Amino acid sequence: MPLKFRQVIFDLDGTITRSAPGICASAAYAVSKMGFPALSDDKLLEFVGPPLRDSFTRLCGMNDEESVRATALFRERHAVIGWKEASVYPGIYELIYSLRREGALITLASSKSKGLCVKTLEYFGLLPFFDEVVAPNENNAHIVTKRELITSALKTDKADACMVGDRRFDIEGARQAGVYSIAAGYGYGSAEELTSCGPDAIARDPADLRTLLLGNAPRMPGFFITLEGSDGCGKTTQSRLLKTYLETLGLDVVATREPGGCPISERIRGVLLDVSSMGMTDECEALLFAAARQQHIHDTILPALEQGKIVLCDRFADSSIAYQGYGRGLGDWVRQINERALQKCTPQLTVVFDISPDEALKRRLGEQAADRIELSREALQRRVYEAFIALCESGEKRYKRLDATGSPEQIFEDLRQTTVRLLTSPTGEVE
Ligand code: TYD
Repeated sequence: MPLKFRQVIFDLDGTITRSAPGICASAAYAVSKMGFPALSDDKLLEFVGPPLRDSFTRLCGMNDEESVRATALFRERHAVIGWKEASVYPGIYELIYSLRREGALITLASSKSKGLCVKTLEYFGLLPFFDEVVAPNENNAHIVTKRELITSALKTDKADACMVGDRRFDIEGARQAGVYSIAAGYGYGSAEELTSCGPDAIARDPADLRTLLLGNAPRMPGFFITLEGSDGCGKTTQSRLLKTYLETLGLDVVATREPGGCPISERIRGVLLDVSSMGMTDECEALLFAAARQQHIHDTILPALEQGKIVLCDRFADSSIAYQGYGRGLGDWVRQINERALQKCTPQLTVVFDISPDEALKRRLGEQAADRIELSREALQRRVYEAFIALCESGEKRYKRLDATGSPEQIFEDLRQTTVRLLTSPTGEVE
């Protein structure tokens, strides 16, 4: 078993998340609202870690009353947007995923308020991996020091646990609690701070930390997610938002599309969508989509999945089933011509953006000129829509139907939660 410790206790800021951008921006906001001269980026970075009031006094020369007001202004911004202006260090999501899969107990021990810790882990899709979040809240106000937090987080014999943190007090707290300590050298503690407090080990980066905790245990697998729906359902915008979100989790994402996604298939796309291809038979169209898909899987999708990346594909084989199979009436033959390519490559999650063709058309009016397939709309679009809904109701678990009539933000929140359910699912399927 590759697990070096049965329980891993993590600190949050500077160990899992890089939270400085939101802290610096909120400090800058408070300083400017108070009418004090702006601080340099280096000075703003000094707000990460120490109590806020002390920093306003030390760095801006505020008196007591001013530093109280500035702290309130800081919180005003940080509570709304600042806490989200963070990201997970690249490699840490993968590490936590793999620790969980190997059966480790994973606990958070942070001095930040428990509400904010839970909100942060939830937003970054990590909460389901954690057995417990130990942090100050109204019910445990007596727990203040890191030693107390670590002690109350322990669920196993001390000798089987380790604490990972980026500051002196994480390391000292671990030692006082009798727990092995690993310093996260990539966080906010300086090299001098970390070497002088004597951790049992120092991880220079998340890859180092992985070796210390997991040896060479297998890595998180790749995930294949496809986004589908009628023309104009808004999936392209959502795909972009999802890519950005997954990148803030430090994951490697390949965003691609069909028809297209690699040079040969992009050329086939040109033939398929060009208005001058008006005389194309339905069968020719279906075969070209399947041909482009085969090449796309070979050149782009499989290599990315093999490297443990997340592949987001804007349309895939379900579009052929809906457009050519149902829309053009070619039926099951479309499944057959796609079968060979799909044997090697089925999505784990297919999100269908549900918006009726009439609504979708309204949304698209005013956008760029329609392509050949869009020109043959109306009846085709209705059949395509019905086909996507039928696929969602087929009982195959990978289909998730998402209401796409709301605002982009609402739709994205649904998409984000669905994606997190896939990444954190013990079975590799969305429940
Ligand atoms: P595109 O401009 O990418 O449209 P969208 O943004 O709606 O995805 O054009 C792709 C068109 O090709 C779209 O109308 C759907 C159609 N299509 C099929 O008919 N069959 C398929 O297998 C695929 C992948 C797309």
